[in-house]
Amino acid sequence: MFYSLLKPLLFSLDPEVAHNMIMDVVKLCPTLGALSGIKHDPALSVVVGKTRWSFPVGLAAGLDKNAEALPFFSAQGFGAIECGTITLIPQMGNPRPRMFRYPEERSLRNAMGFPNQGLLEIMPRLTSYAGTTPLGVNIGKNKDTTPEESIGELSLLFEALQDSASYFVINVSSPNTPGLRALQEISYLTELFTELNRNRGGKDLFLKIAPDLPKEKILELARLAHDFKLTGLIATNTTIMPERGAGGVSGVLLREKSQDICRTILNEQIDSELIAVGGITRPKDLFELWHEGGKAAQVYTAYVYQGPELLKKFNKAILNFIKIQNITLEEFFSLSLEERKYRLKDFI
Ligand SMILES: Cc1cc2nc3c(=O)[nH]c(=O)nc-3n(C[C@H](O)[C@H](O)[C@H](O)COP(=O)(O)O)c2cc1C
Repeated sequence: MFYSLLKPLLFSLDPEVAHNMIMDVVKLCPTLGALSGIKHDPALSVVVGKTRWSFPVGLAAGLDKNAEALPFFSAQGFGAIECGTITLIPQMGNPRPRMFRYPEERSLRNAMGFPNQGLLEIMPRLTSYAGTTPLGVNIGKNKDTTPEESIGELSLLFEALQDSASYFVINVSSPNTPGLRALQEISYLTELFTELNRNRGGKDLFLKIAPDLPKEKILELARLAHDFKLTGLIATNTTIMPERGAGGVSGVLLREKSQDICRTILNEQIDSELIAVGGITRPKDLFELWHEGGKAAQVYTAYVYQGPELLKKFNKAILNFIKIQNITLEEFFSLSLEERKYRLKDFI
């Protein structure tokens, strides 16, 4: 309600100005989160790796880059909150304007380039976070760091934030840091995961992948992640659409591509987790993911367009599903894929 009144004003402003304005408000007034948020039914919790999400839909990386409004997003009712991308050294990101809206298509394009306050400034917020919503920490390399140097840089971030993170995400899939996507090469990732696994202590670790990779490459990455005992993949980051301009596109324009990638990964039935992200805007999208064998999802762009109503909509639809099926989500995810498909047939 409040968001629908505010939205015309916000959407009359430059997208990044509007974003910063909202962040300023919610970091000062975290109680607004509970006023417009959802309360979780315990029957909706799901286990992702070693982490229990209280709800199967989490907040994707990039919205709270500096972990400034964790209590607000926790009170909104996200199942997990992923902050970042955090780099070792603070950086400004690319010149503005670098965030664009496509309202008719319920999509965004961004060319942010990881603007963030860096490890030292962000770390105290993570260590003092006392909420119950699990925290994902998404880490990336600084713009001018070479691939060789980046292994040490990511290891440092990984070690420094071990105690604060429920799970880590390695972001090598943003289109906005020159050369970053080249770090999706097997030889580089082999070296990186070997290094991270030295001090991992069983911590959940995901690799976030781009949607613009060929199928064979996606499967190669999924198998590599499995071989290095990563918790799984996050699929996907934003997609390149050069005809729209620089950067990466998210929201409805990304949906089909992202769904294709998730389907490709899930079809392989590799024994690891998948967090789906990209154009998830309706409960139907989540049910379709479950139909393919997936479980947890994240949102960013749909939350910008729909605000807190988005989570309410998902909550209502999932509660309706478990009530009709007389099952908790945990029980549902323990069923065979055939049985799950059968139970979902009237929901997609
Ligand atoms: C403005 C903006 C900034 C983003 N920044 C990051 C980031 O820093 N790190 C990251 O891994 N993904 C980032 N993303 C990608 C999202 O986490 C997500 O993967 C992508 O937007 C697809 O989901 P959606 O369609 O629900 O938005 C960003 C997305 C947007 C729109």
